[in-house]
Amino acid sequence: AATVSYNWDVTWVWASPDGFGRPVIGINGQWPCPKIEANLNDTVIVNLNNQLGNQTSGLHFHGINQVNSPEMDGPSGVTQCPVPPGSSVQYQFTVDTPGTFWYHSHNLGQYPDGLRGPLIVHNPNDPYAGQYDEEVVMTVSDWYHTQSLDLMRNMLVTTNTRFIPPFPDAILVNEGQNANIAFNKSKTYRIRLINFSALASAMIHFDSHTMHVIATDAGYIQKESSYQLRISAAQRYDFLLQGSTRDNRNYPYLFSLDTNRDFKNASLGVTWPHNYTGYLVTDSSKPMNTIDQVSEWKPQDDSHFKNYEGQGPLANYAQLIKLDFKFCRDVNGYPRACFNNLTYIDQKVPTLYTAATTNDSNTNPVVYGQVNPFVVKYNDVIQIVVNNLDAASHPFHLHGHHFQVLDRPKSGTGTWPGRDTNYAKTPVRRDTINVNPHSYAVLRFKADNPGTWLFHCHIEWHVEMGLTATIIEAPEKLQGMTFPADHIQACKAGGIPYQGNA
Ligand code: C2O
Repeated sequence: AATVSYNWDVTWVWASPDGFGRPVIGINGQWPCPKIEANLNDTVIVNLNNQLGNQTSGLHFHGINQVNSPEMDGPSGVTQCPVPPGSSVQYQFTVDTPGTFWYHSHNLGQYPDGLRGPLIVHNPNDPYAGQYDEEVVMTVSDWYHTQSLDLMRNMLVTTNTRFIPPFPDAILVNEGQNANIAFNKSKTYRIRLINFSALASAMIHFDSHTMHVIATDAGYIQKESSYQLRISAAQRYDFLLQGSTRDNRNYPYLFSLDTNRDFKNASLGVTWPHNYTGYLVTDSSKPMNTIDQVSEWKPQDDSHFKNYEGQGPLANYAQLIKLDFKFCRDVNGYPRACFNNLTYIDQKVPTLYTAATTNDSNTNPVVYGQVNPFVVKYNDVIQIVVNNLDAASHPFHLHGHHFQVLDRPKSGTGTWPGRDTNYAKTPVRRDTINVNPHSYAVLRFKADNPGTWLFHCHIEWHVEMGLTATIIEAPEKLQGMTFPADHIQACKAGGIPYQGNA
């Protein structure tokens, strides 16, 4: 296996991806941010130097499990301190799962300001190799004309009695770069689609072309055709698009931010949807016709998909973590989001450092503070049930694992009945699951990866409201763990005391 290295200065850059100019957070003076690309089992090194001047920073590698490297996961206050302006940290990890991933800042609502990019792990033994000729990475995202800190300041006020998040001003496909695909009708293309949104899901539709879906997040599935897909914030789909031999026209495609389920409140006069039309270009001298109106969105639900290997559900679970989500208020009346009536409070000393320095008492959730901690035992099978008691849909993400998706209610709404029945026989694996309004999801994973892993809504605005829990996994194996000197130095430079070992 090889080592791939990146040296990145994180800087403010001026950009106007939808025609509106604003400062965005870029890398080495460029925006959009570059792609990380590696082969299975390679070591990836990212040297991050924070040159923002006015904000702390950091990076998380979304979907990378960080086996044996939980200190490289990236979220501020969880596995590291925020990196102060003028400081550097190194991330080093092995990529042990192939697939389509991404990286983003996990600090201060920074990724909606632009600090995000694709992370592709190629598989030399890809089960779908030979079924496509070329691969294309595509991204879709909501986009805001105002910087995140200002959006959050306006959101986190006592007068926001309806927990209204910021609304996007635009949709970006490929961060506003050319998103037409040069399309040879005798070829098949593997599209790796990533949703970078801070809030919105996207609906996906290609004129006259069926999507042959081969992966959900990083989990291969048995190939299944879809006429339309819905991709929530932070999810990925890999699908094949086969050239049509019918004619030589240019085929439009439509990406549309979801107005139906991500935010239901017609009385607010929300100005969605935002649509983007791009093209599969077979002959650029021919006209680019607009897409026939998509009269109905009926995206394929991933509960129909089957994992590639035909694996059944992980056998009987040892621990149930039941999370009832609804919005809540703190004692001063500020809007928060709660699991089981408790909101998550950002920690100064990272949770992983607490696990490393509290010896035997690190199995007691109390030492971790208000982070909604759930201590799980090494190698136990854990079942997470999320009851979404809210009227909008929410995409929940687990760090450190790709979970199995065992169940969503068949008929739309309801809370978990408390019985384990009718579970998927060959459940898909994901790291981000969209939970519909007034609905639930049942997930399972094996606790074989010691660390402190967040479970949170990937709507960035809800992270800022505390819609997060922490899985404290096999804490006995984290006792006495040491951390890289530059990570400890980031704490010191930021004035955060740390009593452990570098
Ligand atoms: Cu994509 Cu906790 O993050």
